[in-house]
Amino acid sequence: MTNQEIIDAVAKQVRDQMENEGSGHDWWHVFRVWNLAKHIGEKENADMFTVELTALLHDVADWKFHDGDETAGPKTARKILSELGVDTKIIDHVADIILHMSFKGAGVESKITTLEGKVVQDSDRLDAIGAIGIGRTFAYGGSKNRPMYDPAIKPTMHTTKEAYFKSASPTINHFYEKLLLLKDLMNTKTAREMAESRHDYMEAFLDQFFKEWDGKL
Ligand code: ADP
Ligand code: NI
Repeated sequence: MTNQEIIDAVAKQVRDQMENEGSGHDWWHVFRVWNLAKHIGEKENADMFTVELTALLHDVADWKFHDGDETAGPKTARKILSELGVDTKIIDHVADIILHMSFKGAGVESKITTLEGKVVQDSDRLDAIGAIGIGRTFAYGGSKNRPMYDPAIKPTMHTTKEAYFKSASPTINHFYEKLLLLKDLMNTKTAREMAESRHDYMEAFLDQFFKEWDGKL
């Protein structure tokens, strides 16, 4: 199989698995991250085979939907890639990025070290902010039966991944606990620049949201 045929086969499997998902972690999220990763990866001169495979596989068996089991995603990715005969070095790299790329709390350090990992992490984070990010965040909150907002519950800066995983705070808090922090956590110059307008759009949204909440508009 050529690299392109492998990418197409992975895309097809992921699409079949992730269609009709209601928490913002559906196939179209993966599709957008894949697109962003192709754009950013090329600008940053990353190895594009690794970048594309990782972008496609980054959310299969996500830990949030497997009782916090962080190994479920990398294991599933390994299985899919070895069945397609991908080189073990590449499989190890892809699985390692998937294990480490997820946001696990404002005070928890990211362990992403390779350029390919940085590119895919940035792409995933760009899809978490801006207009799309706002939409996904409310979709996620609704899928977990969370209130949109509760003025009595203040945002928390989580310092352990366990605390972050257990959090059941209202959806608006997620903007302060994660989304507004992402702009400054971008690894690559390309993504840092792209994050600006998405970040500003969220700030404007929150400003309007609280004015409407207070009945001032
Ligand atoms: P990562 O890809 O860094 O692991 P997640 O999968 O945790 O990110 O989150 C992806 C998106 O899912 C978030 O950007 C947000 O839209 C939504 N989401 C995740 N956790 C929450 C939450 N506690 N409240 C609201 N939305 C959330
Ligand atoms: Ni994702």
